[in-house]
Parts: sequence; C-alpha cells; structure tokens
Amino acid sequence: MPTIEQMSNQFAKEIGSEMDAPSFTAVGEKPKSAFRDYEQAGIDRVRTFYRTNHIHQTLAFVLEKKSHWLAFQQRTMSPWAALEFLNTLVDESDPDIELPQVVHLLQTAEAIRRDGHPDWFVLTGFLHDLGKVLCLFGEPQWAVVGDTFPVGCQHAEEIVFSSYFNENPDAHDPRYNTRLGIYEAGCGLDAVHLSWGHDEYLYHLMKPYLPIEALYMIRYHSFYAWHREGAYGYLTNEQDAENLRWVQAFNPYDLYSKSANPPVLSELRPYYEDLMAKYLPSTLQF
Ligand SMILES: [Fe+2]
Ligand SMILES: [Fe+2]
Repeated sequence: MPTIEQMSNQFAKEIGSEMDAPSFTAVGEKPKSAFRDYEQAGIDRVRTFYRTNHIHQTLAFVLEKKSHWLAFQQRTMSPWAALEFLNTLVDESDPDIELPQVVHLLQTAEAIRRDGHPDWFVLTGFLHDLGKVLCLFGEPQWAVVGDTFPVGCQHAEEIVFSSYFNENPDAHDPRYNTRLGIYEAGCGLDAVHLSWGHDEYLYHLMKPYLPIEALYMIRYHSFYAWHREGAYGYLTNEQDAENLRWVQAFNPYDLYSKSANPPVLSELRPYYEDLMAKYLPSTLQF
C-alpha cells in the first residue's frame, strides 16, 4: 500500500502542483528492485493506464494505427527540433519517473557512452523514445507508451497486468485467441503485429538510417514479455534470437539510468548534434 506521503505526492502530480518539484536521486541510491515496481505509489494511475491499453489494443486497432501513422503525414522536423517538441511530455505508464523526456534520453545515452559502446548505440539511446511525439500529434498515451505485446494471437501471462485482457474482444475471438493465432510458428517478429506504440513508429522512421542491432533496440525495447520474460519464443526466428542480446543490452540503460542527476543539455548538445548529423538526414518526415 502506498504511504500517505506517496499518495499526496501522486495527487500533487495529477493536479500539476508547482510545489511537487521532481527530486532526483543519484545513480545507485535506488535499489534495482524498486524500478518498474507497480505496487508503489502511482499504482492506480498505472493500472488505469494498462487496463485501457489492454482493452483497446486489438489487431484491428493496430492495423488501423499503422495505416494512419506510418504514412508520415504529420510534419517535417529536424531531429533536434523533434526532441525539443517531445520534451513537453510526461509518460503516464512509467511508475519510476516524471523526468522531462529529453533528460531521460540524455541520461540513457550518456550511460551508454560512459561504457564505451559504439556511437550508433549511443545515438540509439538518445533517440529511442522519440516516437512518443505521437502523443503530441493527439494520440492518447495508452496507444503510445507502456509495454508492448503481440496482437492476433493469445496474450501471454507474462505481460504486465495480463488479467485485463479478459476485456479485450480479441481474447474471445477464436481467430486470435489461440497460441499462434494468425501467425506461423517461427515466422519471425517482423511478421508479428505488436500493440501500437512509440517503438514501432520510431522503428519505421529510423529504418533507413541505423544498423539492424539499433533497430531491434528501438522496435522491441518495450516488449518485456519477450526480452525479459522469455515469452513468445515460438514466434521468433534466427534473426530475432541473434538480436535479442542487443535488446537486452539496451534495457538496463533505459531503466536504471533514470534517477541520475540530470545531465546539462546545453553542454552536450554539440556532441549529440554531430552524432545525429552523422547518421540522420537534416530533416525527418513525421
Ligand atoms: Fe520507450
Ligand atoms: Fe526510455
């Protein structure tokens, strides 16, 4: 149960109180078990989020979203302008932070850079949540953020709050509620429709520019049922198996760099602008 203090902090966040300034904890102060802990404060917000997500993310919903958003008819922005645009968003699905998005992206990328990984890996850390601009184009957060899962086949128990799938029409449709559903065993994740969100959107946006390992990190970083719980192996192929380690290598940077002291954007901007210029065109069509 959340404490009174946690509940009042939560309430302050929900009403947008100026008094509820985020407090940053140094890296290492927060035990790893405390991340993604949905039993702590904010649980009602996160439960409501996932209930809505799990009820509405059907195969038909995902196909409609793909045909709408993957036409990329929203606006043209430089990669940096897109990051600044994203920075106004707070992720409702995340029980751990209320950090500005760019701070989270910078922390993730800087942690990857500190560990001496290749520059495309650093860039991937810096860009991985850029698909959340969908929220700012009017998409509700439950259709943008949060863990992803396959649609068109049985919902695995390993998916967070899986009991809410009882209210999803596909769970009662014999075309979609069997182990394989519309898929063939070993078809590969590229042939599998995941619930709609920022991962898939950014994957399509970045596909021409980044190496396959980076694209796996971007496309599947919210697919915890696969990369953490080991579910859905029967849908994967050799390429997925080879690249799973990259998705898993990325995950700790996404999760555990979140509470660090915020890096200073203005100091780091030249490095990241150069990095974006190396791999990406000067403008992207969103
Ligand atoms: Fe994400
Ligand atoms: Fe992230």
